Amino acid sequence: MNNRNIILIGPMGSGKSTIGHIMAKKLNREFQDSDHYIEHKTGVDIPRIFDVEGECGFRDRETQALQELLQLNNQIIATGGGSVIREENQMLLKSNGFVIFLDTSVNQQMHRLRRDNKRPLLQTDNPRQRLESLLEIRRPIYLDLADLIVKTDRRLARKLANDIITQLPESLN
Ligand code: S3P
Repeated sequence: MNNRNIILIGPMGSGKSTIGHIMAKKLNREFQDSDHYIEHKTGVDIPRIFDVEGECGFRDRETQALQELLQLNNQIIATGGGSVIREENQMLLKSNGFVIFLDTSVNQQMHRLRRDNKRPLLQTDNPRQRLESLLEIRRPIYLDLADLIVKTDRRLARKLANDIITQLPESLN
């Protein structure tokens, strides 16, 4: 690995943005959030992109965002939960940073996302079932990509961020 990016992967509601923000402050790095990057670039929010371009259009934008963000160095990057699906993205993530998987239960996701209406994939009659089936497909990929796996359940974000920092390889601290 010839760069010092730290990449957070994991499902919706695993706390990637919250933890990433805290880590960036503590490690004195810049924080990037791939969803925010896409929204900033397009000038519209994620639900709007799904409406107009469908999931496939959004995924194209997501790959583009990852390509751009991962050219940077020394960043803390929060990815979208589905960014690991495409093989092309998997290669990008693997070769451009230290990958941390925030491993979260569906219960915890449900709790964190209970008031959310910004995740198009959860606008269904049964969001729990949707989260379960997404996790079933994606968890093996998260596990495969991860350099570090961190269980997030019932832990305060600040404490979790501190714990993660102590587990980072020396070259990233
Ligand atoms: C998605 C996760 C979202 C966002 C989009 C699709 C997914 O990001 O990219 O709604 O497929 O799991 P977060 O993981 O930040 O919620």
